[in-house]
Parts: sequence; structure tokens; C-alpha cells
Amino acid sequence: MSENCSKAKRGQYWATVCANKRIGERFYRLGLEFSGAGAEAFSKVQAGQFLQLELSGAALPSAEDIPEDLKDAAERKVLLRRPFSFADVTAKDNKTSAEILYCVVGPASLRMTTFSAGDSVSVIGPLGNGFWVPEGKKTALLVSGGMGAGPLQHLAKILTNDFPDIDVIAFAGAKTKEGLPFKRQLDKIAQQLEFSLPEFARYGVKSLVATDDGSAGFAGLVTDCLSEWLGKCDLASENMVIYSCGPEVMLARMAEIAKEQNIDCQVSMERRMACGIGICQSCAVECKTDGPGESIYKMCCTDGPVFDSAEVVFSF
Ligand SMILES: Cc1cc2nc3c(=O)[nH]c(=O)nc-3n(C[C@H](O)[C@H](O)[C@H](O)COP(=O)(O)OP(=O)(O)OC[C@H]3O[C@@H](n4cnc5c(N)ncnc54)[C@H](O)[C@@H]3O)c2cc1C
Ligand code: FES
Repeated sequence: MSENCSKAKRGQYWATVCANKRIGERFYRLGLEFSGAGAEAFSKVQAGQFLQLELSGAALPSAEDIPEDLKDAAERKVLLRRPFSFADVTAKDNKTSAEILYCVVGPASLRMTTFSAGDSVSVIGPLGNGFWVPEGKKTALLVSGGMGAGPLQHLAKILTNDFPDIDVIAFAGAKTKEGLPFKRQLDKIAQQLEFSLPEFARYGVKSLVATDDGSAGFAGLVTDCLSEWLGKCDLASENMVIYSCGPEVMLARMAEIAKEQNIDCQVSMERRMACGIGICQSCAVECKTDGPGESIYKMCCTDGPVFDSAEVVFSF
């Protein structure tokens, strides 16, 4: 987590599924357990790092359980491993358990829904570079859109455990309340602006919710919710750091706000990935250089997925 922390050794391991809980229309939390060398490798995962799951052999759900809009996608073969971030990691008694928060969007994630306790899955990881904590920060603002909440839950845990002097506040956004990947019954508290989402509250982290349609929490974009909050707070910008994960259009706006307010900001970028280890060059992220108007391409899988927001050339 700190800038000089040592990284876990990457490899291919087997994990045992210990849970696969549905937490909304399209969201699940998959629990994996590693033993032996895998337990060692995944015990030191940084928040924001990821793994690649081999899903080609996993079964599809039965036809009646496949959503209408994914019936065609379900037919597609799953040739490549798929990348997922960690929503939680716990190392204890020579075992490491990890949780992945995932959304069902296509053939591979559909197959993940059929996993049950005791199944084995091949995993490559830990991969990429996670979030880091710059010197002198007193407040960390975790800003997520939709599924981006997963790695920020892991980050909330690490920050509160390892950096107790840093205040942590989470901002979670989605288009509608159904798009918020949390357990809490958001219907019951739709009019509340300040939430205590259990996934953050378990670490003592306060959370604010925003929905574009106003069906829960702040009515508007999560980045507007953050801007409004920043407008009311009297903290020095150099003592704050923003960590953000979500759709690229949201990350682009996050980067603008951070620049305007002179706040350090890290963004977790997503690209379609094939190898996940820097060989195929399929996951390029355009980045600025010191030269005016010049850019270079970095690999999301090995240089990222977490980048300093000031470095990224966003396409929005
Ligand atoms: C570093 C990283 C971490 C990720 N962490 C998570 C996570 O924690 N939880 C989670 O649910 N998903 C995560 N994803 C996205 C996840 O990998 C994809 O949703 C998954 O591969 C979809 O596979 P599929 O076969 O179900 O759907 P596909 O048919 O492969 O994709 C369905 C739709 O999603 C789009 N899509 C898929 N992958 C990406 C991507 N990487 N970038 C942009 N668009 C994409 C496709 O264009 C398509 O429209 C992460 C991706 C990356 C790169
Ligand atoms: S996925 Fe192959 S280089 Fe990044």
C-alpha cells in the first residue's frame, strides 16, 4: 500500500469456491479460498490489484435463469480468462480468502453464477499495481461508480487497518438504486442523503450514495455529490487524496475535479484484457509525457490498472 511495499509473487493457482451470494438483480459476491503457495501469494494483495479467472469450463445457468438480454451472449465461447478486482482479502491460519464483487454482463460472468461451494477454479494473479498512499494525507475519499465499489471496499479495509490516522469517506454512485451493488435494502432509506452502507460501515467508514435518477441518496452524478461535499468542507486540498473506480466517463470527470481542486487522485482503469501480464499489448492506456502534446501508451495490466489521474489521457 505504501509506495515501497513489496509485491506478492504472481502465479497460476487453484482456488476453492466457498460462497457465491446473489446481492441484487445482476450482482454477486464470489468467495474464494487459497491454500499452500496460493495462500501465500494472495495474502499480500494490494487494493486495486486483480486476478484472472479461467471460466471456459464453467457451466451456464439453465435457460430459464439466463436474462433475456444475455441469451445471445450466453452462446459465445469463453476463450480468454477474465479480470476481476478484489473486494476483500483475509489471510489467516495459512489460508487466504478473497471476495470478488461481480456483475453479470456476458458469457463468462453468467457462468460464474453457477459456481457453488467446493468448486475449483484456476486463477492467475495477483496482477497489476494497486492504489498507493502518498505521504502526508489525512483524508481519503473513495469514489465509485457501479461495480467500481469492489476494490474500494478492499481499500477501505486496508486504509482503516494500516493507516488509522487517515479519515476515510466513501461516495458510491450508480444510474439507479438497482445499480448499486450493496446488500442494504436501499428502498427503505431512499430519501436519506447519508448512508451507512454495511460494506463500508464494517470498517467504520461513512458512505454517501448518489443515483442519477434520484432513486436513492443524492440526485445526480456521484462526481457532483463529491463536488458538493468538497464545496462544504474546509480541509486543505494537499492533505486529501481521491481514489476512484468506475466507468471511464466518471473517472475522466473525477480527474477534472481533482485538477481544479488541486487534490491528488488515483483512478483504476479498465481495458479489455487478454494475457493480463504485459505480452499481448491489448490493454493500452494513453498517458501524458512531459513533452507538450506528446503521449505514450502504457499497459493497463502491468503499468496499472491504477494510474495517477493527472497522467491519463481520457477519451471523453
Ligand atoms: C482490471 C480489471 C478489473 C475488473 N474488476 C471487475 C470486478 O471487480 N467486478 C466486475 O464485475 N467486473 C470487473 N471487471 C470487468 C470484467 O472483467 C468484465 O465484466 C468481464 O470480463 C466480462 O466478461 P463476460 O464474458 O461476462 O462479458 P463480455 O461479453 O466479455 O463483456 C460484456 C460487456 O462488457 C464490456 N466489457 C467487458 N470487459 C470490459 C473491460 N475490461 N473494459 C470495458 N468494457 C468491458 C464488453 O465490451 C461488453 O459490452 C474488471 C476488468 C478489469 C480490466
Ligand atoms: S492484457 Fe495483454 S498486455 Fe495487457
